[in-house]
Amino acid sequence: MKKLFAAVIAIAMLFSFAAMAETLKMGTECTFPPYEFYDESDEIVGIDAEIAALICEKLGYDLEIVDMAFDSLIPAVSSGKVDFVMAGLTVTPERASSVDFSASYAQGVQVVIVTEDSDITSIDDLTAEGANHKIGVQQGTTGDIYASSDIADAGYGSVEPFQAGTDAILALTTGKVDCVMIDNEPAKKFVAANEGLKILETPYTVEDYAIAFAKNSELTEKVNAALEELIADGSVQAVIDKYITAE
Ligand code: ARG
Repeated sequence: MKKLFAAVIAIAMLFSFAAMAETLKMGTECTFPPYEFYDESDEIVGIDAEIAALICEKLGYDLEIVDMAFDSLIPAVSSGKVDFVMAGLTVTPERASSVDFSASYAQGVQVVIVTEDSDITSIDDLTAEGANHKIGVQQGTTGDIYASSDIADAGYGSVEPFQAGTDAILALTTGKVDCVMIDNEPAKKFVAANEGLKILETPYTVEDYAIAFAKNSELTEKVNAALEELIADGSVQAVIDKYITAE
């Protein structure tokens, strides 16, 4: 009986200890496999979710993942609604003027997805004399930014922004846009999951992914130090290799 009592106390203490851990809120947008997406049991999984979990474990925080529209992520972190953003988020000078970035933990490449029978056969076709294509993008992403400035503003067509990457793909498979500009790893997953799509061979541009924090957040240094350790000891690469198999 005494033993049972002791066990109950020990378990109660464990629970209250776990409840004491502070929770870090990670903002992300979950139509972006393999970085963040819902698995069959409706759990948010992916490279970012797992690296964030490792960081929080190292620093003794609980992790809560908040799924929101991509273009509200930077405002959410700068206003303190979430503690950090991890979303396959590309480091850009404009973004760096409103948030602080960690070290980079992965590279992304902007690519263009077309239907297999498309008249677009290379990225140069998008800015060729007389070109007039509809480019699908996820709103607020670097794909949106490049397509808007290089193609739409230059008079070679128009940009159709969608809330979710998956919506842009649906627009492509149903003929509502001529191509989709998006990051290469999600692109590969979308092409694998949808018949009749392919990725144009020449990548558009190479980018660095990093974690974003509010300017001058106390978290930046701590989280960045944990991230750098996880990069140095191979943990980050192990997570990436789990989701991205070399072809
Ligand atoms: N790398 C691109 C950007 O930073 C796209 C990221 C989209 N991420 C997402 N979780 N939907 O703009």
